[in-house]
Amino acid sequence: MDKQEKIDFLAQYLPSIKQISNTDTAAAVADVWLEMLRLSPWDSVDQAKFKEGMDVSLISHVNSTVEAALAVSRIITRYHKVTFDEEKIIILGLLHDVDKIIEYLPDANGDLVVSDVGQKIQHGVMTAILAYQAGFDTDMLHMILTHTSTQNMKTIFREGLLFEHIDICDWEMVVKFYGS
Ligand SMILES: [Fe+2]
Repeated sequence: MDKQEKIDFLAQYLPSIKQISNTDTAAAVADVWLEMLRLSPWDSVDQAKFKEGMDVSLISHVNSTVEAALAVSRIITRYHKVTFDEEKIIILGLLHDVDKIIEYLPDANGDLVVSDVGQKIQHGVMTAILAYQAGFDTDMLHMILTHTSTQNMKTIFREGLLFEHIDICDWEMVVKFYGS
């Protein structure tokens, strides 16, 4: 697949990738997803899961957090004169949980469990490795690695801080109230 084909392929599942203005950056986002998918037993992007023990897709969480983060950023800008780089929010949102593709996998009984990678490698690290290989800069690797409460370093970017809150909100809503 060429760059545009990769972007179009991923856009079937994650339409906000089309809002990234730079084709090379959008294709690099697609590369991270496709490479992580290659490392997994899943046949397609929409099979990847959000959490062990739950039949919730990863892409629904990613789409929800990207849209919510953009919406909240615009409201904060309107009321408080705090501006955000929207593309940075979109790129972070699309990348932040890619490693969940290999962190939650079916066991021998078909139950979705935390994988060997999920048990031994801190959330965010595998995504950051593939993002580094795809050419993302230190700032984006920093935001990927700091979006999760499983590590100690705090984000230094407003887009990262905003996304961290949206991410945990979406997580808690799904984990505590899904389907109700
Ligand atoms: Fe997340």
